[in-house]
Parts: sequence; structure tokens; C-alpha cells
Amino acid sequence: MDKLAIQGGVALSGEIAVSGAKNAALPILCAALLTTGTLEFSNLPRLRDVATLLKLLAQMGVRIGAEEGDRQTLDASGLNNPIAPYDLVKTMRASILVLGPLLARHGEAKVSLPGGCAIGARPVDQHIKGLQAMGAEIAVEQGYIHARAKRLKGARICTDMVTVTGTENLMMAASLAEGETIIENAAREPEVVDLANCLVSMGARVSGAGTDIIRVQGVEKLRGAAHAIMPDRIETGTYLCAAAATGGKVRLLNTSAAYLDTVVDKLMDAGCDIRLTRDSITLNAPPRLKSVSLRTAPYPAFPTDMQAQFMAINAVADGVATIRETIFENRFMHVAELQRLGADIQIEGNNAIVRGVANLQGATVMATDLRASASLVVAALAAQGETVIDRIYHLDRGYENMEAKLANLGAKARRQA
Ligand code: EPZ
Repeated sequence: MDKLAIQGGVALSGEIAVSGAKNAALPILCAALLTTGTLEFSNLPRLRDVATLLKLLAQMGVRIGAEEGDRQTLDASGLNNPIAPYDLVKTMRASILVLGPLLARHGEAKVSLPGGCAIGARPVDQHIKGLQAMGAEIAVEQGYIHARAKRLKGARICTDMVTVTGTENLMMAASLAEGETIIENAAREPEVVDLANCLVSMGARVSGAGTDIIRVQGVEKLRGAAHAIMPDRIETGTYLCAAAATGGKVRLLNTSAAYLDTVVDKLMDAGCDIRLTRDSITLNAPPRLKSVSLRTAPYPAFPTDMQAQFMAINAVADGVATIRETIFENRFMHVAELQRLGADIQIEGNNAIVRGVANLQGATVMATDLRASASLVVAALAAQGETVIDRIYHLDRGYENMEAKLANLGAKARRQA
């Protein structure tokens, strides 16, 4: 298992470019299934999850163009195997995003239930309920979702809770359905908007993305298009936290604070000086941060994907913070590992009370999920001495070239076999 050894106590400085957004790239790659045309992507992040999805699409008969840096073409005209097998889906839950497109374009799909993950049960009942409302016949047996539909019909759907990939699956399915689909209680995340923009460039008729009511007028067919993946706002926030926790000064390029208002506001509350341009963010950290409390909720509120990273900065801040996680039932897996570094954290239900300490001490810790591992990197950079983070394959799922980017910012981090 790969490990990452970090020598803490270095104030990060310098500038790096942010990669394309994992959580925009995954649904947008699945959108290629909706057409026989060719899709040409740019700013595609080379992540483990992206590689897993490309492997899944290739198994379905999608022609994957040569990997050319951040550019990638996909051609699903040869789609012939609408199956997403358990051995791939269990490693990447977002594979569920092939369900809507396969059903809409191919009329059938056999997709493994994703199963739970470290942060929660992660059911997909809303995806299924919405597709059934559009006329799909769906049976769940032997761990697989078996779905059929001659042609989906537009419907009015209101999901029981805000679901990002649920909204994305239904929006993709609706783009080829007969008639109008209205998705109420829709997720407003920027990645939903990026997917909608890609679908529109393919000829779909989508309006309202970014609000809680999305309307889709189904069309007969969609065409190929070119699309640049939006910047990764969570990667952006993660490096801002790393700079904040180490008292550093960094400039992040190819990104925007447009989708990070709540995160930028919290970092300013913590005492950071932040300067924004159209495509960059500069953070200048104070010698010591002030504690900041937060509560996660669907966009535009504070993102759950930044909760763990903020627990790390609060661990070394001056004061006491309360962190409330309202989206996932088990997203405090990083707490025990942060405590190994000397963090003072008490969990009370879905609240974590974090009392800042003057210094964390390096130790051996274990990554449990993607953002928990990011939290451990932030804490290790701030800690005194060396920290070795085990199971960092979790990091590779969502952070492109992390060691190189950290090195460009002056961090002492090296991968160990
Ligand atoms: C997306 O997951 C993201 N993943 C997650 O990012 C992110 O944490 C999450 O949205 C919330 O913002 C991708 O976009 C690939 P949800 P998703 O459906 O869509 C419940 C990362 O670190 N729910 O919005 O799976 C669910 O259990 C990852 O990059 C149902 O009950 O999340 C959760 O409590 C982690 N039934 C809540 O809704 C359903 O059918 C929100 O989940 C669907 C969801």
C-alpha cells in the first residue's frame, strides 16, 4: 500500500494550477453514452476515479481516444454492452451515473448496486424512483439494478432529499425522454451546472440548472460536442486549507472563487487575507488561525467535501470550533486519525467539538476515504516532525499529482512503497 511521508512545519509558498473537477468530469464522461457523436473533453483531471470510469465505459463498447494530457475523446457509437459490473462499481460509486444515460439511449441497463462506503450507506433509491416515474421498469436483484424502457417519458419528479448524482442521472435520462421532465428539489452544485452546459452543447434542452427546479425538454437524439471541465473547487479549497494551516502564502491558478464563497468566507473569518481575480485565488495566512465553526449542507451552503479539511485547520487554530455534518451519517472517520496527531476533538452525534492546540505532533496515520486523507495531509503539513499516511490510494482517487503540487509549494512530501 502506498504511503505518503510528510515532514511538517514548512509554511507553503508559491503557486500551482488547479485541475479539472472530479465531480464534474465523472457525470460528463457518462454523458458520452447519450450520443453516437464524438465528445472532445479538455481540462480532464487524470485521477484514479476517471481511469476507473474510462475502463468501465470501454467495457461497454465506448471507444476511448488516446490519452493526450488533459484532453480526451469518447465515441459511444459502438455501445454494445450496457452492463456496469460489481467489481468496477464497488471501487467507484459514481459508476451509478451510467444508469440514466444507458436507459435513455440504449433502452436497457444492468448496473451493480454501488453498496456503501466509508462515509455512509449511500443508497440510490432516488435515482431509481425518478427513472421509474419516467416509465422505466426496474428490478433490483442479486445486487444489480436491471432497468428497461422502450422510451422514457417526461415526468414531474421531486426527490426526497437533495442528491447530486441523483439530479445528474435524472437530467441525463430526461434529455432523450419524450416530453418535458421537471426535477424539483434538484441539487444546485456547480458540477450539475457544468453537466447541464455540456448536455446543452450536445443539443439537449435544459433550463434551470443551478436552481432547485430543472426543466428538460426531451429530444430525439444528441450530437457530439467539445467541453472543458470546470475547475475543481474542492481541490482548490483543500490547497487553501493547506496554506492556511501552515501560515503560508499561495496562489492557485486556473480556478475561481465563484463556487467557493462559503469556504473563502470561512477562511477569511479564520484570519486569512484572500485576493481574487477572474481565474486565481491568493491566500496569505496569519501566524495562527482563529477557530471557525461550520455546518455542512447542500450548495450553496458549506460543502461536506470540505468538512474534513476544516477540521484539520481548526485542530491547530486558536479557540474552539463546532463542526456539524448534516449530509452523511459517518463522515468523521478522520477524527480518530487526527487525534493520533494530537488533535483535541470530541464527537457528539453529528457534531465535532474541536479545541485548537498549539502544535500537532507527527505520527503514523491511515487514510479511510478521499477527503479524510486530504484532511490528514493538511494536518501533517502543519504538524511538527514526520507523519506517514498509509493507504493513500484514497488520495489518488481525487487529487491529481498531489506530491508534485505540494513540492511546488515547498512542502516536504514523498511517496513510499
Ligand atoms: C456527490 O455524491 C459527490 N460525488 C460527493 O463527493 C459529495 O460528497 C456529495 O455529492 C454531496 O455533495 C460525486 O459527485 C461523484 P448525494 P452523491 O446523492 O451524489 C442521500 C467526494 O469526496 N441519498 O448528494 O452520492 C445520501 O445518502 C464525494 O468527491 C439517498 O438517501 O451524494 C446522502 O446522505 C464524496 N438516496 C445525501 O442523500 C439517494 O438515492 C446526499 O447524497 C441519493 C442520496
